[in-house]
Amino acid sequence: MTIEDIKQTAREAGNILLTARRPKIMEKSGHANFVTETDEKVQRFLVDKLKDLLPEAEFLGEEDGQDEFSAKMAKGFCFVIDPIDGTSNFIYEYRPSVVSIGLLRDGKPYMAVVYNPYDDMMFSAVAGEGAYMNGERIMSSEAPLSEQLSCFGTAPYYEELRDKSFDIAKKLLPLCVDLRRSGTAAWDMCCVAIGRCGLYFELKIQIWDYAAAALIAQEAGCSVTDTEGKPLSYTGPSSALCMSRGVKKIPDCFKEA
Ligand code: IPD
Ligand code: CA
Repeated sequence: MTIEDIKQTAREAGNILLTARRPKIMEKSGHANFVTETDEKVQRFLVDKLKDLLPEAEFLGEEDGQDEFSAKMAKGFCFVIDPIDGTSNFIYEYRPSVVSIGLLRDGKPYMAVVYNPYDDMMFSAVAGEGAYMNGERIMSSEAPLSEQLSCFGTAPYYEELRDKSFDIAKKLLPLCVDLRRSGTAAWDMCCVAIGRCGLYFELKIQIWDYAAAALIAQEAGCSVTDTEGKPLSYTGPSSALCMSRGVKKIPDCFKEA
């Protein structure tokens, strides 16, 4: 199996998003945490296809009852998938939403694909081999934070983090050009990787939100850690801070919060 096989699978999954109409919506735990029948359909599609590509791999995915990390996922290959990152965007037809496929090898990021079908943007990376968008090598921006946009996620499902998220955002705004909130964490990190943004943060996201995008960003020269500068967890949720090459140190607003 090669990264091209995973890209092809993501492309086909993206087509399901493009052709889906008015999906049935189900609610999960947490504030406005939804899943649609399309999330489940894409998840089933991905698991079927990826199992064919790499039969020995374990799966960790946002939908379909495979969302608990277990010890066996830390050994050998494990696909970490988010069929639709940006489910609320998908429901409200607010773009984009992306398909995210990460492959861990012995618990560490090994291959990554994030596909935005609306703009036909295919991000990919293999550990140690650089990051690509539609086959072209990408690097994050070298401009300082003051000359770049920043983006953040509101950690929408965790009400206890709301004040802290917006305190940081308020202090971050004057340090950069302006703030953006896209509605998909995987996309946000890809935006830092490709030089559209200088920084992305969110106080709690799940492994499937970042397993693929964090590797893409790292391979594009970004620093990707939790908001304290420690390595991201690959066994459970984490905060996330992704900074482009031009952002040399963690802004003080993260320490003060
Ligand atoms: C969410 C999106 C959102 C982020 C949330 C994620 P979902 O994923 O990535 O941007 O703020 O933390 O959970 O629920 O749309 O797959
Ligand atoms: Ca997600």
